[in-house]
Amino acid sequence: MQENRVLLTGGAGFIGSNLADKLIEMGKEVVCIDNFSSGRMEYIDHLMSNPKFSLVRADLLTEDVSEVLKGCGCVFHLAANPDVRLGAEDTKVHLDQNVTVTHNVLEAMRSQDVGGIIFTSTSTVYGEASTIPTPEEYGPLEPISLYGSSKLACEALISAYCHTFGMNAVSFRFANVVGPRSTHGVTYDFVKKLKKDPRTLQILGKEPGTQKSYCHIEDCVSGMITGWESLEGAYDVFNIGSDDYIFVKQIADIVSEEMGLEGVEYGWTGGVDDGRGWKGDVRTMLLSNDKLKGKGWAPRFDSEGTIRDAVRYIISESG
Ligand SMILES: NC(=O)c1ccc[n+]([C@@H]2O[C@H](COP(=O)([O-])OP(=O)(O)OC[C@H]3O[C@@H](n4cnc5c(N)ncnc54)[C@H](O)[C@@H]3O)[C@@H](O)[C@H]2O)c1
Repeated sequence: MQENRVLLTGGAGFIGSNLADKLIEMGKEVVCIDNFSSGRMEYIDHLMSNPKFSLVRADLLTEDVSEVLKGCGCVFHLAANPDVRLGAEDTKVHLDQNVTVTHNVLEAMRSQDVGGIIFTSTSTVYGEASTIPTPEEYGPLEPISLYGSSKLACEALISAYCHTFGMNAVSFRFANVVGPRSTHGVTYDFVKKLKKDPRTLQILGKEPGTQKSYCHIEDCVSGMITGWESLEGAYDVFNIGSDDYIFVKQIADIVSEEMGLEGVEYGWTGGVDDGRGWKGDVRTMLLSNDKLKGKGWAPRFDSEGTIRDAVRYIISESG
């Protein structure tokens, strides 16, 4: 087994492609699996000529990827459907793309004796936490979205595989991650909408909107590497976020300002369930980063800096 060779699922996606860059920079040999359902070739094009990088186009839901795992020391498992809103319309998509896909990955690992998995979970596993900032030991975990429930099910599966089959794993519960290459989320939506109509912005929910923590992609990737390298024992969980949170209205203000727009009229939809953007939308989210800070990591960006950087990138990309 080559410890230096790693499998990266979802490597053509937003977080995956940024992580691929980091792993290559660290001297790892990266085998990327992606079905390009939301991933983009342009995010990994620059890696295609690198002998340490290889791409396998495969669907983890329907294809057996055991052979691809041969010689890999561990798996960074990012492939998933990350759209929280979708669960209220389609109750099966997260079960398939998140839970079943994770089970398929674990089975492929077991068949090839691959022992380590690094999993990307989410703050939504906490549901409406009554402790803010929310630490990893918070409970009981009561997700309010099908997406959150699917990620919690994945965490549980991974933990059980570790204890049953001698694997080891770390799950990372991310705040909202944004930055270069992000293709979804509120910041992305606002830039797109304001490019179309710079005078008015329709915002989901009730003013001032939900209040959440936004994590810069650089902090997300560096946090994953720190957590992975410091793993002791069979299984551990780490939060990764910024140290503060902001309202949706502040995001709208930042996006308008970065786009050089004045006097944008905000039209609030009123939302659902007393002002949330959509069914399953958590009202307040801020994670405690203390556990990962204890391993030597700290976020470089606050929520505002994260949003500003993301807006600049989206503007520069969309011309
Ligand atoms: N972006 C965030 O704010 C955030 C927050 C918490 C957790 N996460 C998690 O981080 C991971 C990466 O998220 P992202 O924001 O980069 O999303 P993304 O949609 O950009 O990346 C997901 C990648 O997985 C691929 N993929 C999806 N289903 C697949 C399948 N069946 N087979 C093969 N490839 C498949 C997609 O093509 C895409 O490249 C996801 O697991 C997501 O749930 C993201």
